[in-house]
Amino acid sequence: MPRILMVASEATPFAKTGGLADVVGSLPRALLELGHQTAVVMPRYGNIATHDWTQAWRNVVVYLGRHAISCDIWSKIERGVTFFLVDCPWLFDRWGYYGHPDDHLRFGALSQAVLAVIRLLWRPDIVHLHDWQSALVAPYLKTRFAADPTFHGIKIVYTIHNLEHQGRFGRAVFDELNLDPWLMRPDFMEYFGDVNLMKGGIAFSDAITTVSPRYAAEIRTPEFGCGLDGFLGRHADKLRGILNGADYEEWNPATDPHLAAHYDRDNLAGKTECKRDLLREFGLPLDNMDRPVLGIVSRMAKQKGFDLLASAAWEMMNDDVCLAVVGSGEQRYEDLFRGLASAFPGRVAAYFGFNNKLAHKVEAGADIFLMPSLFEPCGLNQIYSLRYGTIPVVRATGGLDDTVDGGTGFKFWGYWPHDFLLATRAALDEYRRPEEWTARMRRAMDRDFSWSASAKMYSDLYRGLLGR
Ligand code: GLC
Repeated sequence: MPRILMVASEATPFAKTGGLADVVGSLPRALLELGHQTAVVMPRYGNIATHDWTQAWRNVVVYLGRHAISCDIWSKIERGVTFFLVDCPWLFDRWGYYGHPDDHLRFGALSQAVLAVIRLLWRPDIVHLHDWQSALVAPYLKTRFAADPTFHGIKIVYTIHNLEHQGRFGRAVFDELNLDPWLMRPDFMEYFGDVNLMKGGIAFSDAITTVSPRYAAEIRTPEFGCGLDGFLGRHADKLRGILNGADYEEWNPATDPHLAAHYDRDNLAGKTECKRDLLREFGLPLDNMDRPVLGIVSRMAKQKGFDLLASAAWEMMNDDVCLAVVGSGEQRYEDLFRGLASAFPGRVAAYFGFNNKLAHKVEAGADIFLMPSLFEPCGLNQIYSLRYGTIPVVRATGGLDDTVDGGTGFKFWGYWPHDFLLATRAALDEYRRPEEWTARMRRAMDRDFSWSASAKMYSDLYRGLLGR
């Protein structure tokens, strides 16, 4: 079986800001079960302590423009998967993973360090890259190092988790990346005068995947293409959608260590206890036990539909519901929930920040889960909600459309407050008919989005590329 080396900017359990980390933290393990050897390369951010890691290599030097950058490589085996950390404190030991003015150097260094890991420590058959932060590995391997026998025969898979973030930098950055000048053309990495790292990943990979079949089709249209729909169209023969799986070892209401009580499809009593625990945790009065609790766990970004929620929320609160929110991101959306909490005291509570334990409690304790995304490449929280019998109300876009159906959740199509309200009301109406509601919860809990099917699709893709 082919050996797979993944490269990403985050992976659970070491660093997470979003779903990318869940995928990179769990797919390698699912591949392992199919017989692949797998490894992951990621940065060592300041929050990752290395005392229980092994120093695998010292002083790997990578060259970017005028900079010679020295990194150390740490390694550790976590649940059978080898993890490598690229350690370069002045690049990665900072507040926040992304959004620094020298991100091209940070992720350029990560990408070049990957070549060193391949040369010195772990040679794969397939390099599997994720999002713009690791995209540079593709042009490095296929142009500058194309003649180097060390890398001969290695195939590249590039996965797009979110087309909105492309790693776009000013023209001057190109000279700091040590790439051949001909790459700064529209059919490679040039984009309206800028340099676009994701275009490099797309152009030089042997296969491109994105995280749901529906999103794979959507990104070829101007509405969802974020300016790359035409470019992706030219590479469409190597593009396909493979739905993300969920890690049901972590997300299982029958065993979840974060919950006050456990439950499953045949014994739902524990879910009521989880609802009480959720209210307590958020400091909400227990009279909310008689109200439907709407839950949200999300990055607070435009993508996740918060503008729609802002327009619909006041009307929605008039339906005598309770709202529990976990997430962090843009100030204006945090303010939205602060405003709601003071307008509807005792019925709205929000926690701003990333908190895995609270996320689990919301998934279990809420009755209904809201995910009105503007676009959604896959989305994982609706999949967790289904498993926890917490009925999702979703906008039918991307992976939300692929994972939720009329029997398990409530969908709406237009990005308009009225459509969102109607779908939420349909859910609330059925919530008041306990028999139908319980049947729906059971159908939702029966749906299986474990990794086994999707990991098999990746495995077939890898072997197909290698002709095995
Ligand atoms: C990004 C996408 C999300 C997807 C996740 C993992 O966070 O926005 O839809 O589930 O990546 O692929």
